[in-house]
Amino acid sequence: MATLQAIKYNDGQLEILDQLLLPESCTFIPIWNVEDAWAAIREMKVRGAPAIAIVGCLSLAVELRKLAAPETKEELCRLVQEKLDYLVTSRPTAVNMHLAAEACVKLCTRLTDNTSVNVAEAKDDIVKHLEAMLANDIADNRAIGEHGASDIMKKNATKDKLRMMTHCNTGSLATAGFGTALGVIRSLHTASKLDQVYCTETRPYNQGSRLTAFELVYEKIPATLVCDSMAAAAMKQFKIDAVIVGADRVAANGDTANKIGTYQLAVLAKSHDILFYVAAPFSSIDFQIPNGHSIPIEERPHSEMTHTGSIRTAAAGINCWNPGFDVTPAELITGGIITEKGVFKPDQLAPHQ
Ligand code: MRU
Repeated sequence: MATLQAIKYNDGQLEILDQLLLPESCTFIPIWNVEDAWAAIREMKVRGAPAIAIVGCLSLAVELRKLAAPETKEELCRLVQEKLDYLVTSRPTAVNMHLAAEACVKLCTRLTDNTSVNVAEAKDDIVKHLEAMLANDIADNRAIGEHGASDIMKKNATKDKLRMMTHCNTGSLATAGFGTALGVIRSLHTASKLDQVYCTETRPYNQGSRLTAFELVYEKIPATLVCDSMAAAAMKQFKIDAVIVGADRVAANGDTANKIGTYQLAVLAKSHDILFYVAAPFSSIDFQIPNGHSIPIEERPHSEMTHTGSIRTAAAGINCWNPGFDVTPAELITGGIITEKGVFKPDQLAPHQ
């Protein structure tokens, strides 16, 4: 069966699977420009750190392809930078869009300085750079899957099949394809090493029950849904071998921001003596911040807690606190940080590995 694809890009045409409509319907919507991408990201029609950056950057490629080359490279680069600056404001916690914007601005500077490149060629180079993100992300995710599965199998060499737990959605819906943490689970399944994956509901936005469960059923991966409040009981009852999650931003010391509820899973994993892994591409690592204290945490609308769809489920008038993410301290990431370049202890991360 073909794996799910949430981002379709062909010859300057971009479409995304509208994740607000899942699991009821699989509907693709067109993205014509950066404003459409910004709105789709803000409204969570597309979400997940890598997917946010890919859709943002591809929307710029869509615009640039249609644009007649400006008169000068300086003008072109000013325009590109303005659009990237705007895209970066769509959501605050995931760092991937920020880092993708920085890399694109650096390319603009190199092209501007290179006198043998004219403005039309510079525009083509920027478009190619942006378009390459889709294939690069899939390749990175496959490498993450292989590194992660082999590390987990090595550390559980005496076991025939493994029981994993994961949180939020880190699969094909959150990336260009294959996924990060869910990609590792996919690789374990392909190697016939997965007994069962327990996916948490991921309150209050339910990325686990709506999206991860959807992917797991779609791909026939043996899976069981648990509420977030069942995590400790499930770890004990099912003798979970490892917990694996994604990341929205990893700080230089390995502290990791991920979906709210990740931190409590790491604490629980520690007290059950279960390995805790983070799986993320290098494009989720922010070497400019020393630790997790500096990671901005998105505050989400209270209605996500007080309502299910349009039905109120919490007492009217109650105050709410709804952070979208939390930070897991590096010392709780006992299994390691799985990247496309290998598996690292949190204190071994370095920019040019
Ligand atoms: O608010 P979301 O749904 O964008 O949050 C997504 C997560 O926290 C994911 O775990 C993270 O982005 C990694 S996706 C490979």
